Amino acid sequence: MAKAKAVAAPKEGISRREFLYYIWGASLALFTAELTGLIIWFAIPRFREGEFGGNFTVSIDNLPGINEPPVANAEGRFWLVNLDTTQPNGLMYPAPDETEPIIGVAAVYKVCTHLGCIYSWNDATTRFECPCHGSKYRLDGRRVESPAPRTLDRFELSALDADGNVLAVSEPDADDFYPAIIIPDGTVSLQVNTGQKKNGPQETLICTFTDNC
Ligand code: FES
Repeated sequence: MAKAKAVAAPKEGISRREFLYYIWGASLALFTAELTGLIIWFAIPRFREGEFGGNFTVSIDNLPGINEPPVANAEGRFWLVNLDTTQPNGLMYPAPDETEPIIGVAAVYKVCTHLGCIYSWNDATTRFECPCHGSKYRLDGRRVESPAPRTLDRFELSALDADGNVLAVSEPDADDFYPAIIIPDGTVSLQVNTGQKKNGPQETLICTFTDNC
């Protein structure tokens, strides 16, 4: 009499191999989700219009007069300065080593280049002065007295017409610094991009020319 073939009973649950597949699949899905999240996070702009790190638009009416005290923008942490060393006064004047005139408008970062204190404009002495360690700067941000290691930093500045078209924009110079820009006719507003900052150059202290350091 033929022996009946034993039939294996179906296993309950999942095998070890299937379990490992599931773990591997879940890990892969989690990793992909995290990676996608990171890519989206990096793609989102860090700053919105009008926040520090973003663009600040200022009416041309708020521009200071030529070689007059600077105008502060507290939210954007910058000063607007309007310079012309061909019309010198007690605020802005050519230093002996400046062969070219300095003419135009600049957006100067409000943080001292020494150790990061917030300096202010002093109407009595007609210069920027830092309360922490005494650095002093001319209206355009060039150092008059140390210990600051360099000229004040500047932000990228654009001149816009009534339709928002860019008529002029600051371009980095040979020192990789934003020089003052001449404001073209037809400009109705200025845009300061606080996400684009250039460090000031290490120019000679102005006080050395008068033996007054
Ligand atoms: S932080 Fe301004 S002089 Fe030191």
